[in-house]
Amino acid sequence: MKSTKYLAIDKSIITEGISLEFNIFMLSSDKEMNCFKENGICFTHDDKVIVDSADVVYVEEDQHNEYEIFYENFSEELKDIKLDHKPAVTYKHASNVLNKLFANPEALGNYESSKEIVNEMIDTILDDDFTIKSLMDIATHDYYTHTHSINVSIYALSLGAYMKMQPETLSELGEAALLHDLGKSKVDSAIITKDGALTDREFHEVKKHSDIGYKLGLTLGINNKNILDGIRYHHEKMDGTGYPSRLKDHDIPLFARIIAVCDIFDALTSRRTYKGAMSTFEAIKLMKLEMNNHVDVKLLNKMIMMFR
Ligand SMILES: [Fe+2]
Repeated sequence: MKSTKYLAIDKSIITEGISLEFNIFMLSSDKEMNCFKENGICFTHDDKVIVDSADVVYVEEDQHNEYEIFYENFSEELKDIKLDHKPAVTYKHASNVLNKLFANPEALGNYESSKEIVNEMIDTILDDDFTIKSLMDIATHDYYTHTHSINVSIYALSLGAYMKMQPETLSELGEAALLHDLGKSKVDSAIITKDGALTDREFHEVKKHSDIGYKLGLTLGINNKNILDGIRYHHEKMDGTGYPSRLKDHDIPLFARIIAVCDIFDALTSRRTYKGAMSTFEAIKLMKLEMNNHVDVKLLNKMIMMFR
């Protein structure tokens, strides 16, 4: 029998009174996948409350096309209605692109879309009305599969813009940040989504993702050293205890150091199933006090200045 695959979707499409043309699934507390709402049946107020409290909602892979068509229309409508809400549109578009990219990391079309997303993000971030808080509000509200990659890109691009990087360099940085965890698409998803501590064997598997991501980058035809280095070395630590190459200090390429700071910051401030989110202040404090051997403190200080 063919086993059914489920794909995470953007749950903000679900509103009270809506009925969808595809079934919506959720994980139960004992990790069983259950159909929460069949197609054609309206979501009630109570359903919406349950959806809001769930970390992730899913559709069956077979119905993902229907979802994508719906989602595209939804994004278009959103563009028309809320022209003043550009960050939200950018964010939703990025989620969609990232879902496709992680589902099929070798597909050139998906990679090309991710490059467009970086430009869209840069436009949003350089917009006069942009505040990093507006994007953080969306991010902390709605944590699902690839939110992390998008958040890291947003922080990295904001930091890069704050550091007055040239547009071309910003583009490269955004791409590296968006793709930094692409290698995880090739690691057993049971390990990637596991709640709580990993065993030594599982950690060993997870650690492969930076090299796998680098190789996927080469497969996609990326030949920019900055981008490839950012992906490959984003888990190196300043004191040389990171992986895969135990690089130290400024032997760690700049993009990798930037991504590392943003990666840790997002992990601390985002809501996950197994822990609560820290405030920006708590996260920065913890990074300053306990991770000053791991992250580039100068970059961390720049990030603090940026948040101010
Ligand atoms: Fe990573």
